[in-house]
Amino acid sequence: MERKEKLEVAIVGLGVGEQHLIGFKKSSFIKNIYVFDKNKQKAIEIKNKYKNIILCNDINEIYKNPKIKVVSIASYDQYHYEQICNSLENDKHVFCEKPICQNEKQLQKIESLLKKKKKLKMTTNTILRTSKRFMEIKNKIKEGFFGDIYYLEMDYNYGRLKKITNGWRGKVKNYSVVLGGGIHLIDLLIWFLNAKPKKISVFGNNFCTRNSINNLNDQVTALIQLTSKVIVKLSCNFGCVYPHFHRMMIYGTRGTFEQSFNNEMVILKKGESHRALKLKEKYQKTNKGALIKNFIEGVIYDRALIVPQKDMLDAMKFCLKINNNII
Ligand SMILES: NC(=O)c1ccc[n+]([C@@H]2O[C@H](COP(=O)([O-])OP(=O)(O)OC[C@H]3O[C@@H](n4cnc5c(N)ncnc54)[C@H](O)[C@@H]3O)[C@@H](O)[C@H]2O)c1
Repeated sequence: MERKEKLEVAIVGLGVGEQHLIGFKKSSFIKNIYVFDKNKQKAIEIKNKYKNIILCNDINEIYKNPKIKVVSIASYDQYHYEQICNSLENDKHVFCEKPICQNEKQLQKIESLLKKKKKLKMTTNTILRTSKRFMEIKNKIKEGFFGDIYYLEMDYNYGRLKKITNGWRGKVKNYSVVLGGGIHLIDLLIWFLNAKPKKISVFGNNFCTRNSINNLNDQVTALIQLTSKVIVKLSCNFGCVYPHFHRMMIYGTRGTFEQSFNNEMVILKKGESHRALKLKEKYQKTNKGALIKNFIEGVIYDRALIVPQKDMLDAMKFCLKINNNII
């Protein structure tokens, strides 16, 4: 393989951003890692924990440094848009946490910048594509194992309400559970079925947060008809008394996939009765830095990204459409 010059990268925000850092550290293609966190203490902690980390005191040190070719963004949701635009405008490739922005106007601006800067790569951390379980399901769908898929139920059961009521999420103006969580399942839907929304009915309520937070729908349920006529029920359930889990049913003309907390299997028809098959791959927590390797290789060798730019933008448009229809 042709030898390439090593990359200098910067990470903004060091919560889940620490997992990005671990991903970059594992790569032999990375030279220097710069970090910036608006919480100085956090940044110092990370510098002390890992070797050869360069601390920045101001985010502009990242934008203005021509040696930094990649910016990895893991700040709070409301800062992503501005940080993406500044990075792209300064000719840096971008890996950004979901959601990449909060509204259509911002998304259009990002899309137009990407059109202008065709050489720059950008992707987002919709990490469920790296789950071995979902890879198995994706392959089964592709092989026609389930027959024609006609109905899916996808539940993003967040189960960590405290992160909303006691953390930064609850302070974000109009925090969106669709952009904050549902987007992972919308991304899977696009990946599994090349899904495009046609009609959407959406309902929201705030029973779980109404005593602590103003104006946040902690439960959003969407009924979606895809252009293929497939029907999808998507639930973004942030207040549930249920462990953090992606509950899923996929119904096809030949078989059904069920993934719930206590049951996971594939059901196929056998004569007039059914037979249940176990899945090969366990459902395990994903590593939040798992997409970094593919992203770096995408930048260096111009390779295809696991979450292509188009899918990243389509997932955002899909989620914003759901948000616009909440009643
Ligand atoms: N892909 C996933 O599965 C996944 C999982 C968790 C969080 N996230 C996303 O990651 C982002 C961060 O969430 P988190 O859970 O790590 O939060 P966190 O509170 O654990 O960490 C965020 C860190 O970013 C810093 N920060 C915030 N805004 C900043 C800014 N403008 N400039 C510099 N530093 C800033 C904070 O000081 C904090 O240290 C969010 O957008 C969230 O949606 C994604």
